[in-house]
Formats: sequence, C-alpha cells, structure tokens
Amino acid sequence: MSTTNKKNILALSGSVRKGSANEKILQHLATGYADYIDLNVSFDLSLLPHFNPDLTDNIPDIVQKFLTAVSNADGVIICTPEYVFSIPAVLKNALEWTVATTVFSEKPCAIIVASSLGDKAFESLDLIMKTLIQQELDPQAKVLIQGARSKISADKEIDAQTTTALDVLMKSLLKQIQ
Ligand SMILES: Cc1cc2nc3c(=O)[nH]c(=O)nc-3n(C[C@H](O)[C@H](O)[C@H](O)COP(=O)(O)O)c2cc1C
Repeated sequence: MSTTNKKNILALSGSVRKGSANEKILQHLATGYADYIDLNVSFDLSLLPHFNPDLTDNIPDIVQKFLTAVSNADGVIICTPEYVFSIPAVLKNALEWTVATTVFSEKPCAIIVASSLGDKAFESLDLIMKTLIQQELDPQAKVLIQGARSKISADKEIDAQTTTALDVLMKSLLKQIQ
C-alpha cells in the first residue's frame, strides 16, 4: 500500500566509510519504507568544516545547507558506529553546528548505533539528542546493534532480530511525526 503523504526524513550517517554497516542500515530503511518516507541519505557530514563559534554569525554555505536540511525534515534518523568510546568526530562536529540554532528543537528523531560494542556512543548520543530536541527520545526510537560488522555487510541480508528492532524504531518515528 502506498500513501501520497510521504514524510521527508533526513538520515545522518556517522560513518563515511565505503561499505559501511551503518550506511547499509539506512539504505535498508530507505527501501523498506519507500511507500511512507523519502529518506534522504545523501548528506556527507565529512564535507562540513570544523565547528568554530566565531563563524556562527557568518555561517559557511555548506553548513547552512545542512542546517536547512535538518530544519526542513519532518524527522531525522542518526545511524552511527562508535569510534574510540564516543561518537565519530564527523557526527559530533555536525551536531555542534546545530547547538546555537533551534533546528532540532522538538524534531522527531531516532538514533541507531551499529558498532562492535557501541554502548558508550549510544549513551552519549542519547544525551546529546535529548539536549538538542529538548525532550527525552522515545525509548522505541533508540536501537543499539552490537557486533554490527558480523551481522550487517554489503553481501548479507540484515538479520531478523535487527530488522524487527528497526521496524519498531520506524513506527515510533512515524508516530512522532503524525
Ligand atoms: C578508529 C576506530 C575506532 C573504533 N572504536 C570503537 C569503539 O570504541 N567501540 C566500538 O564498539 N567499536 C569501535 N570501532 C569499530 C567500529 O565501530 C565498527 O567497525 C563499525 O562496524 C564501523 O561502522 P561502519 O561499518 O558503519 O563503518 C572502531 C573502529 C575504528 C575504525
């Protein structure tokens, strides 16, 4: 069944690696929910310059494009690995650019951490997003996928348990948007 009222979802990947498990998850959601959402997975966070508070009065064009994409989205999905017990620098940098703005205020959001362990990044991203959206994330809109590289690869289907968790997350996100 398709719907004419598709939601515009911005997907942010914390991994810019070719063949990334996180990228594959986002592609899986884009395809699986194509009847309900337009999932924009094309924004490359590594294009953003390093955050500098001195630039907030004269924001670079590429940063403005990013902020507008967040602002215009009906909802945002962040999908990321953990790097050195934290979220990757490209993602942290992108989120830092939003802090002095209101683009994330009350924005429907979902977070996925797909990593070897990922628990530190998951906890940190939860706190960051709670701060940016100024409310608690729905518990169903948060998924931690451990052992990601063995479960998710370019030549493998995403396993049933992960698929179910992602379905719950997407239902939560769509419910938040309505
Ligand atoms: C520089 C670097 C640091 C990493 N640090 C961690 C870590 O602290 N915790 C963890 O669970 N995985 C860590 N990993 C493993 C990645 O999270 C794992 O390879 C993940 O699947 C990468 O996601 P991707 O396939 O989407 O690129 C690290 C990987 C790299 C390259």
